[in-house]
Amino acid sequence: MSRRLLVTHALPYANGPLHLGHMLGYIQTDIWVRAQRMMGNEVHFVAADDAHGTPIMLAAEKAGMTPEAFIAGIREGHEADFADFKFSFDHYHTTHSNENRELASLIYTRLRDSGYIAKRSIKQLFDPEKQMFLPDRYIKGVCPNCGTPDQYGDNCEHCGATYAPTDLINPYSVMSGATPVLRDSEHYFFELSKFEGLLRDWFAGKFTHGKPVANSGVAAKLREWLDGGLKDWDISRDAPYFGFPIPDAPGKFFYVWLDAPVGYLASFKALCDQTGLKFDDFLGPDSTAEMHHFIGKDIINFHGLFWPAMLHGANFRTPTALHVNGYLTVNGAKMSKSRGTFIQARTYLDAGLHPEFLRYYFATMLSDAPVDVDLDLKAFEERVNSHLIGKWVNIASRTAGLLHKHFNGQLAAVLDPDTLAYYTRKSEEVVDSCVILYEVGEFAASMRLIMQLADEINARIAQAAPWALAKNENQHQELHQICSLAINVFRLLTVLLKPVLPATAAAAERFLGIADQNFEDAKHPLLNHRINAFEPLLTRIDPKHIEAMVEASKESLGSSGETVVAPVKKSKEAGKSMSEKPGPAISVSASHATAVIGIDDFAKLDLRIGKVTACEFVDGSDKLLRFELDAGPLGTRQIFSGIRAAYGEPEKLVGRNVVFIANLAPRKMRFGLSEGMILSAGDGGSDLFLLDADSGVTAGATVK
Ligand code: MSP
Ligand code: ZN
Repeated sequence: MSRRLLVTHALPYANGPLHLGHMLGYIQTDIWVRAQRMMGNEVHFVAADDAHGTPIMLAAEKAGMTPEAFIAGIREGHEADFADFKFSFDHYHTTHSNENRELASLIYTRLRDSGYIAKRSIKQLFDPEKQMFLPDRYIKGVCPNCGTPDQYGDNCEHCGATYAPTDLINPYSVMSGATPVLRDSEHYFFELSKFEGLLRDWFAGKFTHGKPVANSGVAAKLREWLDGGLKDWDISRDAPYFGFPIPDAPGKFFYVWLDAPVGYLASFKALCDQTGLKFDDFLGPDSTAEMHHFIGKDIINFHGLFWPAMLHGANFRTPTALHVNGYLTVNGAKMSKSRGTFIQARTYLDAGLHPEFLRYYFATMLSDAPVDVDLDLKAFEERVNSHLIGKWVNIASRTAGLLHKHFNGQLAAVLDPDTLAYYTRKSEEVVDSCVILYEVGEFAASMRLIMQLADEINARIAQAAPWALAKNENQHQELHQICSLAINVFRLLTVLLKPVLPATAAAAERFLGIADQNFEDAKHPLLNHRINAFEPLLTRIDPKHIEAMVEASKESLGSSGETVVAPVKKSKEAGKSMSEKPGPAISVSASHATAVIGIDDFAKLDLRIGKVTACEFVDGSDKLLRFELDAGPLGTRQIFSGIRAAYGEPEKLVGRNVVFIANLAPRKMRFGLSEGMILSAGDGGSDLFLLDADSGVTAGATVK
């Protein structure tokens, strides 16, 4: 009987573009979903943007946009990234939606009416200038333990001490610089401790026929938290806050993490409304459907403690399983802007790298355990080239031509007994193993099996030497057998790789003259079947593209093609791990920026005329030009500008007037300090045009 599954992945914050760290867990989810569908299960895959919270509210404010317009722009970018990486969502939603407002309110009201919500007054630091309560990460001061200045309100990055924000010496608000004052505020708490028994039952598999709800490492962590005692959870925030108002509590809003996981249900609800699926079949307390959540290791507590308790307390079913991924490192280290390894999903694509290459590389690294995964860029290049092109595609490229030349593209009508026995045994063995490995999330092991079989058939082809057989008319039957076997094994591997390489596998299916193959189909060989002409399915990675991606990641702040939204200084650090972790730099791609600004905002920009006194290529960068500008009263300025593709003869720019931002925070680049930003118009790449000023203007003149 086919299983019914609701599958989600963690909802990305709507405060910045997706990066390759996000993509690790997201790709893992999409591979799993596609594999489940190919097993014949009924799968509904939903996700959404997580649109609420202080960091998003402040990011929108900095961008001079309403939060609604801001999150809409970000969502557009996220959805484009997902589409280009071949995600197969049934629905993509936002937590800032009516469905979510209704469901969050319903869950809260049920919890309240069942006596799980408590009210308590707490003392919290308040910014008298900004008129708002400050989350821990928005307060800095001198560490009470070691005396290091400028430490966050929750822990010291110098000595590692943890403390309350009220312990800081000389605290100040990161937002206004004002000295915060202590204020009382009434908060709403979810009484998690009342769910200890429920959580223990849930871990023990009481609702999942004994099947574990998480990998053993994750379960151990959850049990450790349980044994340490459960604390009540503060689910309210004071205005101003971008979120949903708490029913019957004026001025109070749901903390973003209250309505974020409810966003899974809201997205599914929207899907039900579109398709006629029944919400209660999946969410009702007695549902026999499965609910799977894919998440990163940093948000286990929300999904393994609060979420099942909230669901159960509000009379919904609990999750079937949590699938937890580790963190992504690049070239063995934490992703870093200065090394160019903080790579956005869009930057990867723009560098000309195939989206399915990343999917494959991640697949070769992923297991059920929440261990960190390293994207080693050299290994990435070598593995993709060797496995996908050298092993898999090669099987078809070395045999399809012979089949067309000598047999009109027709596969043998019968395989001789040994060959047939080999195919039957192999296909059953490998399909059955891969199905299990996909099911339990052991993708790396699955990829190993697939590539082992590719090696085996390639060796068999080499041994049979079909190109030699082809020369001898009386060996053509043998030739037909080996080529037919090769194409059949290629088809088997294609089906097995389909969850990982959906688009390339679909192209391979077209070449094979088949469509929509499931795992079971691959156990039956294609016989007396005509294949189409072979066309190269993939091209090898050229390391230049990887270099371009790294280079573009280094330069992505402040280079053309992106709209820099206000000075983003501190917005990243602020709130980093106060669970509403804001993402990386706040930048919005040009096509989405629609903010209306006041004249005051414009006045913040010091735009000036600079006369180019020198302009040259930059060694080690194929994007940048180095400018020296005479900026009149401001002296000379050095600025690096990403317009090399548009201006191939930099020396010709000497003597020209350009417009530049003089008060942009200087940026240290690998090549030196960049003291401003030169304005240009156009879509980027070679399509960029410097702005000019009429003759008569003097260097350093203000642009108004
Ligand atoms: N909005 C919350 C999740 C709410 S789910 C109801 C959130 N958003 S996030 O944008 O910060 O992260 C989204 C997902 O990406 C999380 O699963 C997180 O663990 C994952 N990752 C973010 N950075 C990552 C890496 N560098 N590496 C791997 N996964 C990472 O948390
Ligand atoms: Zn310290």
